[in-house]
Amino acid sequence: MATSQTATKTASRSKSGANSRSAASGKTSGRSNSNSNGTAKRASSSRSNARSEQMENSEFHQMFVDELKDIYWAEKALTKALPKLKKAATSEELQEAFEKHAEETQGHVETLEQIFQLLGQKAQAKKCDAMEGLISEAQSIIEDTEEGSMVRDAALILAAQKVEHYEIATYGTLRVFAENMGHTEVMELLEQTLENEKATDEALTEIATNTINEEASEE
Ligand SMILES: [Fe+2]
Ligand SMILES: [Fe+2]
Repeated sequence: MATSQTATKTASRSKSGANSRSAASGKTSGRSNSNSNGTAKRASSSRSNARSEQMENSEFHQMFVDELKDIYWAEKALTKALPKLKKAATSEELQEAFEKHAEETQGHVETLEQIFQLLGQKAQAKKCDAMEGLISEAQSIIEDTEEGSMVRDAALILAAQKVEHYEIATYGTLRVFAENMGHTEVMELLEQTLENEKATDEALTEIATNTINEEASEE
């Protein structure tokens, strides 16, 4: 399945939309910050340093860091929201899935802190309006469904999958940005979280289709 590359938020801020197009390609630009060619090595290394300095001051890089702050806020908010979803869930299976992902989400927060450190940036959270909305939607589901029902679980899975898809879109795009900028280690860390979000999404689908949806339809 192709990774979502919608990047609507960043695209709307870009003057030409070129950022979203380059992200959507999902390919490296072919440029490299390192050069092992013997004779030209020193000159190319100073060019490469100048280029990476230039990159760090670029609008693209600033936007990348801003978006990391946004997902950092989102992940931190989720560490508080997921235990509430667990508490509200009816089936043990779903409770366990939420508990597992709450722990993993704490790991995502720490991975982002590592990324900020690698980029020489302070780990700073910037309020993510989208995640705030998705979490408040999940809270409404808890209020609007009956405690102990499978309909509640089916609806909680829907809410949780909206969250996972938001994360998949975000990490998918940020990973490509990191690749474009030559931040290989950062790219690998983003990829690692992305894979975990995808696995969570699939696990939720499995729980829903194995039991919950059917039982909810019989209530
Ligand atoms: Fe996450
Ligand atoms: Fe997640």
